[in-house]
Amino acid sequence: MSQLTITVNGIKVCGNRHEPLLTQLEKAGIKPEYQCRNGMCGACRCKLVSGTVTQPETLAFVGPNEVLSCCSIPQQNIEINFDYQLNTQQPFKTKIAL
Ligand code: FES
Repeated sequence: MSQLTITVNGIKVCGNRHEPLLTQLEKAGIKPEYQCRNGMCGACRCKLVSGTVTQPETLAFVGPNEVLSCCSIPQQNIEINFDYQLNTQQPFKTKIAL
């Protein structure tokens, strides 16, 4: 299983290439906003600053350089930003999602 780094609002998380971003962030103790978890509502939308993700066709609106964290799977090291302060369970700079 190959690992990668997800940088979210400046927090580095060890991630993978097989789970949606939202799931990986939650496992690392980061709690982005979400509602449907299936690409319908857009609540989990975030800005993709760098890197690439795979994302299936979805119904929710996404703007330029935005992705839905509930549906997107990172393909390489990525940096994303949510435009609000993230709720985190731990004040660490590096978290691990397994
Ligand atoms: S949580 Fe609804 S689109 Fe991601």
